Amino acid sequence: MVNVLVVGSGGREHALSWKLAQSSLVDKVFTAPGNGGTENNVPISVDKIDELADFASQNNCFTVVGPEAPLASGIVDKFNEKKLKIFGPTKNATQLESSKIWAKQFMQRNKILTAEFKIFDDAKQATEYVKSTSRPLVVKADGLAAGKGVLVCDSTEEALAAIETILVKKTFGDAGNKIIIEERIDGIEASYIALCDGNIAIPMASSQDHKRIYDNDRGPNTGGMGAYSPTPIIDDSMAEKIQNQIINKTITAMKKENIPFKGFLYAGVMIKNGVPYVLEFNVRMGDPECQPITIRMNSDLYDYLNTSVDGTLSSMPPISWNDKTAVCVVLASKGYPESYLKNEEIKGLEQHNEGIFVFHAGTKKENNSILSNGGRVLGVTALGDTLESAISNAYSATENISWPNKYCRSDIGKKGLTFL
Ligand code: AMP
Ligand code: GLY
Repeated sequence: MVNVLVVGSGGREHALSWKLAQSSLVDKVFTAPGNGGTENNVPISVDKIDELADFASQNNCFTVVGPEAPLASGIVDKFNEKKLKIFGPTKNATQLESSKIWAKQFMQRNKILTAEFKIFDDAKQATEYVKSTSRPLVVKADGLAAGKGVLVCDSTEEALAAIETILVKKTFGDAGNKIIIEERIDGIEASYIALCDGNIAIPMASSQDHKRIYDNDRGPNTGGMGAYSPTPIIDDSMAEKIQNQIINKTITAMKKENIPFKGFLYAGVMIKNGVPYVLEFNVRMGDPECQPITIRMNSDLYDYLNTSVDGTLSSMPPISWNDKTAVCVVLASKGYPESYLKNEEIKGLEQHNEGIFVFHAGTKKENNSILSNGGRVLGVTALGDTLESAISNAYSATENISWPNKYCRSDIGKKGLTFL
């Protein structure tokens, strides 16, 4: 039997820890640093790679990395050097997410469909380009900017302001030393996540996120305010297209370029006229997509992650999924994604029915109370026979939970209903 160390502290990591603890192959699951809902928390932050490696070595752990930041810092390379087993991509492979320019050039040379783009490091040239075109644009910081470095523009003025924000004011620091200005694609967005072992990729269940803070996809982008799985937007024929034209092409090309990709490969896709375009790659599970996906997984997650690290995923059967639909509604602190209060006591966490899973994100345990401790606080996740009933089950469960500045969107999952 092996122990598992999950690195991270969000709702995604709570869901991963919860699922991995169910494996008959796993003894104990630790989470570093974890949150108020995870068990066996280890007080080491995600950037303390040497300390995490020492802990994993002393406790016979297989390590699973949740967020992108430690991957971009090379946690997998460091663990590999020390012969410690770890699930996730190397620093080099993480460039698919950590440098949008690298990812775009990779897609361009490997003929993977994505929005047309130009790269700039000079504000004057970027400004001239924006003024010379009437196409709708999106302006993106090259590097990691905690999900905030993408500005979808409705006008030339907004695109010029975006250049000012990223390249001139350096709001995202060095992540904005270079920018991409790309064509805005108006279509339907969904998340397609696959499990990769360096050679092949097998699909996880499809899902759809809700990135904006307010109902009807209005207001600023967030880390994600809710998700559901599966999504009717990705039917079998669309899944096959994405798997063949995006995921398999990427895995084959990464291997050919000597950067084999192991880990979760997440393609954020925009589907327009039946054609899937890659908006961005992430090199990890989505948060909150992980929560509904995980509760639908019948198979043993540890077995699949361990086989991916070994490079023998082809020996595994397809993952088995619960036929039900799962919906995760994120309960956030009012004010998120900007400023918000912390340390508010959360009530009503004990009472929930079968088929309801309350994953913690920004929470902490103090004495016997659970306090809010972040922007996204909880992910109330429910199963239902249909998307409609899963939505209703999730929202009923959110009503039992309260704290003074609780906020959630009221339309999670509704986008999917229009496709049924
Ligand atoms: P990203 O952080 O790259 O996923 O971008 C954040 C959000 O911006 C995406 O989820 C999309 O909603 C939107 N977005 C990014 N690129 C484009 C694009 N080329 N066209 C339209 N929307 C986009
Ligand atoms: N939910 C979007 C992400 O994890 O990036």
